[in-house]
Amino acid sequence: MTRSLFRAFAILALGALSSPLGAQNVPEPEAEAPPAFARDFTRHAVAADQPIASQVGAEILEAGGNAADAAAATMLALGVVNPASSGMGGGGFLLYYKASDQSLTFLDFRERAPAASSASMYDDVPNPGEGPAARASQLGGLASGVPGEPAGIDMMVTRFGALPLETVVAPSVKLAEDGFPMTAYVTRMTGPFGAQMREDDVMREWFASEQGPIEPGTVVRRPTLGRTLRAFGERGAQAIYDGPIAREIVSRNRARGGIFTAQDLRDYEVVEREPLSADHFGLRFVTAPPPSAGGYTMLQSLAILDGLPERYRPRTPGSNANAGWLHAVAESWKGPFFDRQRYFGDPDHVSLPIAQMLSADRVAARISAFHPTLAMPSADYDLPIRLDERVTQPDNTGTSHLCVVDGEGNIASVTTTVNLPFGARYTAAGIVMNDEMDDFARAVGEANAFGLVGGAPNLPGPGRRPVSTMSPTIVFDADGPRLCAGAAGGSRIVTAIQQVAMNTLLLDMPLGDALSAPRIHHQGTPNQLRVEEFAPLPEEVQRELRARGHVIEPIRNVAVVQAIRLGRGDEPAITAGCDPRKGGLPAGR
Ligand code: GLY
Repeated sequence: MTRSLFRAFAILALGALSSPLGAQNVPEPEAEAPPAFARDFTRHAVAADQPIASQVGAEILEAGGNAADAAAATMLALGVVNPASSGMGGGGFLLYYKASDQSLTFLDFRERAPAASSASMYDDVPNPGEGPAARASQLGGLASGVPGEPAGIDMMVTRFGALPLETVVAPSVKLAEDGFPMTAYVTRMTGPFGAQMREDDVMREWFASEQGPIEPGTVVRRPTLGRTLRAFGERGAQAIYDGPIAREIVSRNRARGGIFTAQDLRDYEVVEREPLSADHFGLRFVTAPPPSAGGYTMLQSLAILDGLPERYRPRTPGSNANAGWLHAVAESWKGPFFDRQRYFGDPDHVSLPIAQMLSADRVAARISAFHPTLAMPSADYDLPIRLDERVTQPDNTGTSHLCVVDGEGNIASVTTTVNLPFGARYTAAGIVMNDEMDDFARAVGEANAFGLVGGAPNLPGPGRRPVSTMSPTIVFDADGPRLCAGAAGGSRIVTAIQQVAMNTLLLDMPLGDALSAPRIHHQGTPNQLRVEEFAPLPEEVQRELRARGHVIEPIRNVAVVQAIRLGRGDEPAITAGCDPRKGGLPAGR
């Protein structure tokens, strides 16, 4: 790890060091210390992007819980200590590997559009406030989809868990009621969004003064959320979707201009879906199906890279800083991002012939459009396909990932979100409500907060789920699970996961290096190759990429990845890593 990366990590972790739950397992950063964000374990591990949340998950494992219990407890704790990224007011995806029968289950508990939503619901609607992310799909009641997180957590624990829900919820009730120190990562986002957050009577209480952000390390208590969590622990999802808490969610949503009804909440259902999977580079990648476009993007990109001659891979194992390789990786994303824009929507409402889209012919066509030394226009990778008549519309960082591996070998890969920081920036029953409606196309051809251009199949409609990039992933080799990985970061989620997986599994980089290495991102539109300020790509590599025609634009960072690598042979049994870009620390034994 470079000195500057280490300094950045130490600053990000600062808020965690005073944590009452996490302190005993949090190593002090020292100049020569191994990268604390990636640690080896022998029995079980949790990797979440907030140190306290990893610690809560590890405590549940020690108390006899399995990966599902620990993942649920970690999600609940994340929702308390990092309300910017996820929580009971949001939704997500779980990919679960059950070691005893080697089964894989994918649960979709993504938010759904309320019944009164429509394709034109944002037409001519003025911004409901001022400041960043202030459109009607991003701020206030119209921005929220019906939350899926409570139903998702309930189902995870009921179906796969070994502990009562009340036990799994208990550490989060305690955190909410006793208080917790807010980490530097979370407080940083209270700067730009502070004025909007102060409009909410619950969030206003978190600030010490009328102006400015929350100081890192400030102890925040959330007693109203504590009461809601207690009810959830006692009565499960029913406590949130029906009765007084449901009524409060509806009334707070409507008071902020929303269209929720009690029936919307009662109608919420988790959907079990078949995960996507494909074999590349001698590994099996299992990942998220639609409504995520991320899993598809990763599998299409891997198919293209696997089809290219071996010479495109870096010749020096242990490093990804190779212009020819990064050029190929960037080019491989342009086609699938084009497909996303054109075809992706809720698979329960639009036709999405994924097998046809991933067919060998299409991959071969994209490989033949690839030029080893020239960045091609995204349109050169466009391959229109015929769809059936179900698509009748006209043409056209928040978020948190966690991985858990338990002592039996079960694995939970969960991505959970309220979309933009602090969701729609209002609360109900202490819960921060999501602004997931911004992941729909507000209008055909309009870009969302992540610059993703919306297509007709992704217009809002009653009960629909918006297209996501969240891609909880598990990679297998011939001996079983090898890597659990996932990310937060909008459209960059999938490109980041794929790079970390390739870094550690194809380029032989230790997990810590695979996580901290510079990343790139290209999503076809706009035609920009993003490089990181956090981990800058060496200047000579950037020069070579520019010479190939890439338009290089720096951004702060390319997503936030959590991952757990399972060892082979002499390798450590378990290495759990939390992205230094957000300050998480793993926990376990
Ligand atoms: N809200 C981020 C995603 O679903 O991709």
